Amino acid sequence: MAITSAVSLLSLPFPFMVESVPAPFWFVEFFKVVGFVLHLVPQGIWFAGLPILILCALYNGKHSRYFSIRLSKQLPVMMALGINFGIVPLLFLQTTYYKSFYTATVLTAWYWIAVIPILLVGYYSLYIAAYSGSHSGINGQGRRILFSILAAVCLTCIGALIVNGLSLMVRSDLWTDFAAKTSFHGAVLGTANNMSDPAFLMRLLTMFGLALMTAGTWIAFDGHYLVRKNSEGVPENYRQWSATLAVLVTLSGCAVLTYTECAVKSSGHAILTTAYPYFGFVVLGAYAVFLLFLLAKTVSPVFVAAAALLQFLTLAGFGIIRQIGQNNGIKPLVDVANLPAAVQWDTLIAFVVLFLLGTGVIVWMTVQCIKCSRNPAQECSL
Ligand code: HEM
Repeated sequence: MAITSAVSLLSLPFPFMVESVPAPFWFVEFFKVVGFVLHLVPQGIWFAGLPILILCALYNGKHSRYFSIRLSKQLPVMMALGINFGIVPLLFLQTTYYKSFYTATVLTAWYWIAVIPILLVGYYSLYIAAYSGSHSGINGQGRRILFSILAAVCLTCIGALIVNGLSLMVRSDLWTDFAAKTSFHGAVLGTANNMSDPAFLMRLLTMFGLALMTAGTWIAFDGHYLVRKNSEGVPENYRQWSATLAVLVTLSGCAVLTYTECAVKSSGHAILTTAYPYFGFVVLGAYAVFLLFLLAKTVSPVFVAAAALLQFLTLAGFGIIRQIGQNNGIKPLVDVANLPAAVQWDTLIAFVVLFLLGTGVIVWMTVQCIKCSRNPAQECSL
């Protein structure tokens, strides 16, 4: 009895929240998806980029060594961008999806809170790897590999913890049972996890497949448009090498996405098919990106820019279908599209102004970084 009341208490609107949303539905969905897609780009570069960096550093060839040092110096900036972009969808999860988001994260509270200490270790490891001195021979390279491995383990754990919370958001059917199993006299202990859910591994694997596509695209884009050919220390034919690596990495991304799509379709499991409706289009987009890199390798580098644009559009398409899946997944509990809106225009205008200002600052920072990365010899005055 205590458990059922605890769960029904958990999914009741929080006393301080009236049963309405502070922004129109279209506004919430637009910025939530935009924020998530912007989060996906740097997230993909660290999620799949780190294992590629480690393999290249271990291989230690002329090109792979240059690439591993270069990417490790870019990753702290990518992390800063990824975290800040992740805050945008987090805001809208809390203001509009509060019933399912808070219930899922309260039931899994200790897993959710663990993100913070793990992120601190992962972030510092990225910095130590980035500044492990490109000229200090085997020691620097050894330290870079070691701390890149530590960062990869931490960031992958965070990805899994986020999937754990977000996959439980759409499983209100499991909440009472989870609360019953992880509570003390009706008090939920926050020790539940949703890692045995069939959707857990599929979501994480799908995100890794998309990350491989994004990391492959970044390797070629960086090699063709950000690395200055004759700059000091750039190995010859680095562009061709980066195009070859992009072909291999995006091919592995296509393989992972094809596997998850076939596994989901053949399982016929409603929870899986609901998460990413029309996912076939994303797989098609991924193969088109791979083909463009093949053309970039064999015909002209201009296809690298086309592939980068198409990869961004594929991520945007994924962001939209994932949002449809999330809304359908929580529909048994609440239909967010029909929640009454008590629009707070003052906050909304402040949000839009700050969002545009923030994006402006990030674009300016990125331009400064590009200028610096193109000419590492130049003193960087950010
Ligand atoms: C600590 C900073 C981070 C913040 C604030 C953040 C924020 C978010 C938010 C809000 C979402 C869900 C968006 C939505 O449902 O609309 C999300 C999804 C995701 N994030 Fe991040 N994130 C962070 C770090 C990371 C890291 C380090 C990883 C590691 C790979 C990661 C991987 C993911 C994945 C895989 C998803 C999709 C989860 C799913 O759909 O099941 N995030 N992130």
